[in-house]
Amino acid sequence: NRPRAKIAHVYRGTFMHSTQDTTLEIIEDALLGVDTVGKIAFIGKGSEQDKLSQTFRFSSSNVTQLKQHEFFMPGMVDTHIHAPQYSYTGTAMDLPLLQWLNTYTFPVESRFKDLKFAHRVYTEVVKRTLKNGTTTACYFATIHTDASLLLGKIANDFGQRAFVGKVCMDRNKSDYKETTQECQKETCRFIAELLNKKYPLVKPVVTPRFAPSCTGDLLGQLGAIARKNNLHIQSHISENVDEVKLVKELFPESKSYTDVYHKYNLLTDKTVMAHGCHLTDEELTLFSETGASLSHCPNSNISLCSGLLNVRNVLKHKVKLGLGTDVAGGYSASMLDAVRRTLDTSKVLTIQNPKHQALTFDEVFRLATLGGSQALFLDDQTGNFEVGKDFDALRVNVAPPGGPIDLILCDKPKIQLEKFLNLGDDRNIVEVFVAGRKVVPFMEPAAE
Ligand code: GUN
Ligand code: ZN
Repeated sequence: NRPRAKIAHVYRGTFMHSTQDTTLEIIEDALLGVDTVGKIAFIGKGSEQDKLSQTFRFSSSNVTQLKQHEFFMPGMVDTHIHAPQYSYTGTAMDLPLLQWLNTYTFPVESRFKDLKFAHRVYTEVVKRTLKNGTTTACYFATIHTDASLLLGKIANDFGQRAFVGKVCMDRNKSDYKETTQECQKETCRFIAELLNKKYPLVKPVVTPRFAPSCTGDLLGQLGAIARKNNLHIQSHISENVDEVKLVKELFPESKSYTDVYHKYNLLTDKTVMAHGCHLTDEELTLFSETGASLSHCPNSNISLCSGLLNVRNVLKHKVKLGLGTDVAGGYSASMLDAVRRTLDTSKVLTIQNPKHQALTFDEVFRLATLGGSQALFLDDQTGNFEVGKDFDALRVNVAPPGGPIDLILCDKPKIQLEKFLNLGDDRNIVEVFVAGRKVVPFMEPAAE
């Protein structure tokens, strides 16, 4: 019987979220209390405010009443985003993956040795994603340890929940790489220094770029580091057919692309692999058995003509799946775009095969919130409004002045959510909360 933390804030209005058993639960006139450590202390009926205020000891002056056409939804989880690539979002989408990496990506990422440039880009990407409702982001940085640490600091300063990966690659045509030993040493330094900062919401993630840019030696060492420190792992898999072919040539002893990562202990229940467009059913089964998850990045898959992931089939194999923007293979940093492209991709699969059952908007809402939390092994902490979880939430106003949504036939919460997901943007996201703290509108970080 631990004493309850005190209630810091109470919100009254419509809440929409997904649960273990539902894609969409709508709770109208709910009352939700957040305690002083940012956790959800209770969620009950607005009509029971008097009773709840006695049990949880808050006064009516603590209660914030949502306005008409407003609702709360869980913060969105971007399970795959390249922070340095934000600098060229919206350009350079005219080449397939392997040429795209050599022509555009590696030269730009090389510039992040310059901490001033890194500071500028990383500040903008954290602000942009937060404003667009990304409360948790799983970031790739670059091979540069100090710039990667800076990304961790900036996410912490703005109050975003984040995984940050110093990218490892010891195999590349250009100079944008390290030796195997440097990768190993710098990854250990990155982990130690980031953990040492004790940022409450920012964690290191072990990040082999992808099998083609890593030797087996490096993959093995990174698998061992992740296991020893019980860390998350992120990489790319089976995004593009030429890439899959290259992996077969580079790792002839492995049965499949998935098998390469499995062999080096890189598939765990804290692993998130981006794309997976061309995975076989056998490989999906290996994902399911190891508890590894997939990040579906539809904008990138279309922009780079990589492939179309069959999300229905992934879910059928009981593989955890979240959504990602994959900036800048994907040209939008907004998770709302990832929601829309996920729906589009699913509909294209139905056009190709009418037996394919397209995803519904509430299924995709779940993937963008609870699904992402599950994929990042965070669903004991975030993803919905269950009591005991952190309050990571968006206060959405469907009708801000001059906003993108017409209110015609827009009274019911479910319709409001559907219109927001399909038509909304950052103008509709009036407040963003991470672990109970209001992070949008921005708290500007303290001056250096
Ligand atoms: N595979 C290896 N690196 C990358 C990257 O930066 N972006 C994408 N989309 N795929 C990759
Ligand atoms: Zn990527």
